[in-house]
Amino acid sequence: MGDLVSLSKRRGFIFQSSEIYGGAPACWDYGPLGAQLKRNIAENWWKAMTYREDIEGLDTSVLMHPTVWKASGHVEGFNDPMVDCRKCKGRFRADHLQGENCPSCGAVNSFTEARDFNLMFKTQMGPIPSEEATVYLRPETAQGIFVDFALVQGCMRKKIPFGVAQIGKAFRNEISPGNFIFRMREFEQMEMQYFVKPGTEVEAMEQWQERRYQWHLANGLSKGKLDQRPHGKDELAHYARTAVDIEYKFPHGTGELEGIHSRSDFDLARHQKYSGKKLEFVDQADGNKRYLPFVVETSVGLDRCLLALLCDAYRTENKGDRERERVVLGLMPHLSPVKLAVLPLMRKVDIEEPCRKFFEDIGKHYRAEYDSAGSIGKRYRRQDEIGTPFCFTYDFDTLEDGAVTVRERDTMAQERIPLEQVANYLRDRFLR
Ligand code: GAP
Repeated sequence: MGDLVSLSKRRGFIFQSSEIYGGAPACWDYGPLGAQLKRNIAENWWKAMTYREDIEGLDTSVLMHPTVWKASGHVEGFNDPMVDCRKCKGRFRADHLQGENCPSCGAVNSFTEARDFNLMFKTQMGPIPSEEATVYLRPETAQGIFVDFALVQGCMRKKIPFGVAQIGKAFRNEISPGNFIFRMREFEQMEMQYFVKPGTEVEAMEQWQERRYQWHLANGLSKGKLDQRPHGKDELAHYARTAVDIEYKFPHGTGELEGIHSRSDFDLARHQKYSGKKLEFVDQADGNKRYLPFVVETSVGLDRCLLALLCDAYRTENKGDRERERVVLGLMPHLSPVKLAVLPLMRKVDIEEPCRKFFEDIGKHYRAEYDSAGSIGKRYRRQDEIGTPFCFTYDFDTLEDGAVTVRERDTMAQERIPLEQVANYLRDRFLR
């Protein structure tokens, strides 16, 4: 993980937030390449989820009516067990401790009794502080979907089963954040609530579990590092009847990447009760029967997904061999932040002028980098390290034969192709 953290900083993927002030704990910034990578993952998820007839997209606000969180059960039940070390005053999540020793000072049997710590961040709405003005930063994006359920269903004329998907920030005042961007206090979720007829939720759960697993594989995560683990009764969240985690073998250990939860009508029933508004679906296909749909939820952390993809893609080839060693970020081309690099073989005006023109033309369609600094070998290595799948080298022969050399990141194979075929070459590879 250390190598990845250092590459992430050096090459502009991920920075510690507020670094010049010593950092904000468990908050991270995405640099230029990280921001693009994150956007590519989110775009891929959005397409997989909402480019379907039965799922609509949504974008709800972070701040909501405070009763939402009473209804959802988060005020009462969104707690982690916390203990203090009596010796060093360190605070820890009780269920993350291994053994009797304090992980900070090593003291033995120094922990207080565990007590509940609510993970929601509180703030105040409007200029006058009061109990009623207290609002929360949302700890999950899902509640925005539940409270807008009837609006989406009505205006988009949806019939059960249908889903609603959204991507957005969530905030949790984690007791023990860490492992780089694995557990943060501000993070992004990509969630989808699938509303089904009661009695059909088991089938829907199985379908979504398989679809979501396949999505991670299709984005390049190694099969051997992905797993699916059903929750035991004692680990279920307060809203879940059953749950399955899609887990990934991170360098620090195996951890949850995505949760698939069967939430029954828990949320809709509670919002119906607390708001006094009917949230039932009228099933015209079933004699106008009224019911509260059951919900199967898929919930993946965008940051955690990005971390898994970086861990999986990062490799060092020919380690120790000064000539041949290279670090490669083997991201799949559709996710790579930079799609191609254009490299003039030499810094000569005869080459650079037409080469820049080629770069500007192709750069209108693909995010491209132009690099003329250093030897061609060094420039290839720089692109390998940030995961650029294709490099195009423009040389003196290009002026004669109108062809460029394309070098492929993973195989390092080079081939000469006419300039007018570059667009087709790329289209074939990015649509694959
Ligand atoms: N709506 C259901 C829900 O929020 P969750 O299992 O608590 O379920 C879903 O969270 C996903 O959100 C997790 O699988 C993980 O990828 C991500 N996630 C949760 N807490 C996180 C944190 N502190 N930092 C980064 N990602 C987090």
